[in-house]
Amino acid sequence: MAPIDPHSFSDSTHPLATHSSFSFYFDFSSSTIHASALLSFPPPPYTCPFISLDTRSLSVHSVLDPTTLTPLPFSRDDYDDPIKGRKLTITLPVNSASSFSILITYSTSPSSSALQWLSPPQTFNKHLPFVYTQCQSIHARSVFPCQDTPAARLRYSARLNVPRQLSAVMAAAHLGRRPPLPNESAGACDDALWCAEDRAVEEFSMEQPIPPYLFAFAVGEIGSREVGPRTRVYAELAPAVLEAAAREFAGTEEMIRQGERLFGPYEWGRFDLLVLPPSFPYGGMENPRMVFLTPTVIKGDASGAQVVAHELAHSWTGNLITNKTNEDFWLNEGFTTYAERRIVEIVQGEERAALNIGIGWRGLNEEMERFKDNMEFTKLKTKQEGVDPDDVYSQVPYEKGFQFLWRIERQIGRPAFDEFLKKYIAAFKFQSIDTETFLSFLKANVVGIEKEIDLDVWIHGTGIPPDAFEPVSTIYTKIVSLAKEFKLGRMPREDEVAEWQGQEWELYLENLPKTMEASQVVALNARYRLSESKDWEVKVAFLQLATSSGCREFFGEVEKTLKEVGRMKYLRPLYTALVQGPGKEEAKILAKRIFAEACDGYHPIAQGVVESILSKNL
Ligand code: BES
Ligand code: ZN
Repeated sequence: MAPIDPHSFSDSTHPLATHSSFSFYFDFSSSTIHASALLSFPPPPYTCPFISLDTRSLSVHSVLDPTTLTPLPFSRDDYDDPIKGRKLTITLPVNSASSFSILITYSTSPSSSALQWLSPPQTFNKHLPFVYTQCQSIHARSVFPCQDTPAARLRYSARLNVPRQLSAVMAAAHLGRRPPLPNESAGACDDALWCAEDRAVEEFSMEQPIPPYLFAFAVGEIGSREVGPRTRVYAELAPAVLEAAAREFAGTEEMIRQGERLFGPYEWGRFDLLVLPPSFPYGGMENPRMVFLTPTVIKGDASGAQVVAHELAHSWTGNLITNKTNEDFWLNEGFTTYAERRIVEIVQGEERAALNIGIGWRGLNEEMERFKDNMEFTKLKTKQEGVDPDDVYSQVPYEKGFQFLWRIERQIGRPAFDEFLKKYIAAFKFQSIDTETFLSFLKANVVGIEKEIDLDVWIHGTGIPPDAFEPVSTIYTKIVSLAKEFKLGRMPREDEVAEWQGQEWELYLENLPKTMEASQVVALNARYRLSESKDWEVKVAFLQLATSSGCREFFGEVEKTLKEVGRMKYLRPLYTALVQGPGKEEAKILAKRIFAEACDGYHPIAQGVVESILSKNL
């Protein structure tokens, strides 16, 4: 017996499911999915006659052998681990000689951490409800019982039974929409109001094996627009939103082509985009065939393309080659950040790519400050036993990972590194690997690399290695020096910022000291109106600075922002600035009140993160 992942009850002696067939009945009135999952396993022999599945907030009704419909013995731990959830142990029908399946019927609960249920008033059109998933890192287990570790991969098919006015999308191939069959009308639930005419069934299939964290769907009043030969953009049905999104993402096909040129064939068929309601907790999520995006990236200046480039890059690094556990998370995000910037460099130019590297460099330096009492999380390979991945989510795996790969690129030259990357992806596609596997592949293919670069310092060392590199570019260097001058009292002139877009301002603000004289902050805003910026990155960076500098006049804008969006990249710094800033009691009381009023509108993952910020600081 050996656990294979600190975040899962899966064990090395257990067989891993290779396919699952789902049937979901969406009951919006109770924010519950009544479901069944038919899990298939490879043929015996097994060293262990039972399996442990991960579950959280699920009520398990029955576990059957689907061929005989005989119940299979199962037990549930009484103990509900705050991170891992509740273990479900099932005894396998050992007498079967070939592959076999188990059928689990269960229901989710309104508190299932992957699911956000939006009531009609919380949606754009205000008259129909909406629900969507966010499964990374360890929330898939709150939607279906599974071996919720990225070391496992499974194919699946799914039938989603939804109210007729709604449609369903999934990170999978859509097979069709049809009325429910008579045997489906019995439903898995006792909903007395259930009526077949009011329902529709949408069918999907995922032919490529995926780790459970890439499982994803959304159900709501959803429309779409064509963007390219393999791309449509989906969003809540509102012509203005769809038009704006289609315009913002018009360059997607070009990015896919460049991705294929750099990293090899795009293996997932379609590359669709789903723009979610503003409460979506991330900028983007690389769900295969259908990336999920926050609406805050739609700014009308094509900068949303950077987030799409990132999620697209995961199609190779993350979705094809997957980190074996969250301890190797940098293999996903570091490679993807590197790949994203290569794509951005081609489609938006070297200056833009350098600006992104510069913003990342600033972010990495700031994380060193955040983790100064917990240096473990400044390493690339981390120990995560007893650690909730949502609590330690940071820029380190992204930016230190990026820096490591960039360092190797500088050492061996770009052509050789490009060749190495292609070879690496082809060698490990559809596999989940750990850092050690990557390192042996690197050493085998780039002979002598360990003599040139201290790999151990990069992987196991804390902090930023001495051979990491701050980018050089005209714009980047100019902005950093302007920020230094403002510290000394000189505000940038109008002609100096005339050409600045959001990212230039973001970099400028992030290079200012964490706190400044309140009068300086107010003067900056009087000239450049940053608190009213339409660009969320700029607005939040400014409000963070203002709050940390004790400017109470922006509290109204902070409150409005925290009630409009649920993206954690904005919630984290703003709530933190309120509770840690010099605003003292008043700001803390404000933070508590805003959270109490806004929390219903946040995704459960974001609720948890804000709760932990407040509880640590109040
Ligand atoms: N896979 C991540 C999002 C994620 C990470 C969700 C860990 C849950 C746990 C995604 O690819 C990502 O990195 N998103 C970034 C986008 C950015 C780097 C362009 C985000 O949301 O900010
Ligand atoms: Zn990512």
